[in-house]
Amino acid sequence: MAHWIIAFPAIAFLLVAAPEAKATLYDDMGGKEGIDRLVDNSIKSFLADPRIGKTFDDTNMVRFRTMLTAQFCHIADGPCKYNGHSMAVAHRGLALRQVDFNALAEDLQSAMDVSGIPFRTQNRLLALLAPMQRDVVTK
Ligand code: HEM
Repeated sequence: MAHWIIAFPAIAFLLVAAPEAKATLYDDMGGKEGIDRLVDNSIKSFLADPRIGKTFDDTNMVRFRTMLTAQFCHIADGPCKYNGHSMAVAHRGLALRQVDFNALAEDLQSAMDVSGIPFRTQNRLLALLAPMQRDVVTK
């Protein structure tokens, strides 16, 4: 048994190291720096969008930024824990419609483009966000 480890130390190393080396979505998004840049660009594009910008008029944007950053990091298997409101609680009372959700998703996509996130990585994040639609859209 030990003979092949001596004969093929490189293979033995790969077998031990491989699980550690697996990149998460967080890594593919550029880690902390990448997510900070994405959240920055996303907030700019939400606020500049005439379809949904006004929805944020009464929002504490410092908290929103912190929470969105933590949420993206958390769902992308990064080293963060999202401890904000559930999506149902965060959006209740906003009477959001499907068109609002689609507008935000579109803005997020262009923010991912601007942030240099590759298309495949974009789709992995969008796939994690899509099921939240049923808690966010209430009208
Ligand atoms: C998958 C889609 C969405 C995600 C992942 C998301 C994420 C979040 C997060 C993390 C928060 C902060 C919760 C907290 O403060 O604890 C939040 C709040 C908020 N979201 Fe969303 N959101 C989504 C869709 C939308 C849409 C479609 C709109 C409007 C067009 C919207 C408008 C808001 C507003 C206005 C707040 C702040 C509410 C307040 O002032 O307390 N969100 N969202």
